[in-house]
Amino acid sequence: MAQELVLIEKQGAVAIARLNRPDKLNALSPEMLASLAEALESLNKDDAVRVIVLTGSERAFAAGADIEAMAKASPVDMLLRNTRQYWQRLWTLDKPLIAAVSGVALGGGCELAMLCDLIVAGESARFGQPEIKLGIMPGAGGTQRLARAVGPYRAMEMILTGEPISAAEAQRAGLVNRVVPDDKVLEEALALARLIAERPPVAVRLARQALRYGMERNMLKGLEMERRNYRLLYETEDQKEGMQAFLEKRPPKFKGR
Ligand code: COA
Repeated sequence: MAQELVLIEKQGAVAIARLNRPDKLNALSPEMLASLAEALESLNKDDAVRVIVLTGSERAFAAGADIEAMAKASPVDMLLRNTRQYWQRLWTLDKPLIAAVSGVALGGGCELAMLCDLIVAGESARFGQPEIKLGIMPGAGGTQRLARAVGPYRAMEMILTGEPISAAEAQRAGLVNRVVPDDKVLEEALALARLIAERPPVAVRLARQALRYGMERNMLKGLEMERRNYRLLYETEDQKEGMQAFLEKRPPKFKGR
């Protein structure tokens, strides 16, 4: 039987998706990306799931695109392979994604972590875009998202040298939310996921959407969407409940409506 490339586990409102090709450091073959897109889309449709934690193995979150599968490819091969479709599907999920990174997040692995909304890293994790060392360049958002995360100068250095940065440097640069001991990465990511899962889901979804929209497009468009979504939330029962609970000095009961 073929090895399952992505393992799913649900813990209440939080789902864990684990890349499962440890012997190849979770290299992102087209099959791996297809399985991941399919698995996360199914979690995205599951009403019981509010937040998704994406993780890998102890040695690797993911060591990038599968070099073996690309070594002999021509531009037309790459065009026809069309792995971009999987990245686009991952980018358009509605639920918050938290990357729990142990070991290396390189190339497509770093891009996959950056596609997530929050990143928790182990002390010995490393982040980098080493494609330049292979004669190519980042191809799944690295040039855009890394520059936005760490600033254009640092991103330029990383992309042009191909040298990785440590978890501590990544945190200082603003790429990583939390750095914890290696054996606590999943635990910390799950704690963060549970906290977000307690928040009103519609507000989480729309706030996230506005933030991403602004990052992707220009700031004015993001502000327009923020304002629109902000107003729309006043239509929800959760907004009424949330404000009422505050006034009554009790914990709110959110229903996702
Ligand atoms: N694609 C395909 N296979 C990969 C891979 C990748 N991106 N990264 C690692 N592997 C494979 C190795 O070929 C090796 O397979 P093998 O045991 O069948 O020989 C296995 O995973 C373990 O990797 P190895 O290189 O032996 O581990 P290491 O601890 O010595 O080095 C890295 C770890 C991450 C530094 C090294 O694997 C590496 O540089 N990987 C490529 C990173 C990269 O350039 N990514 C961008 C790709 S576009």
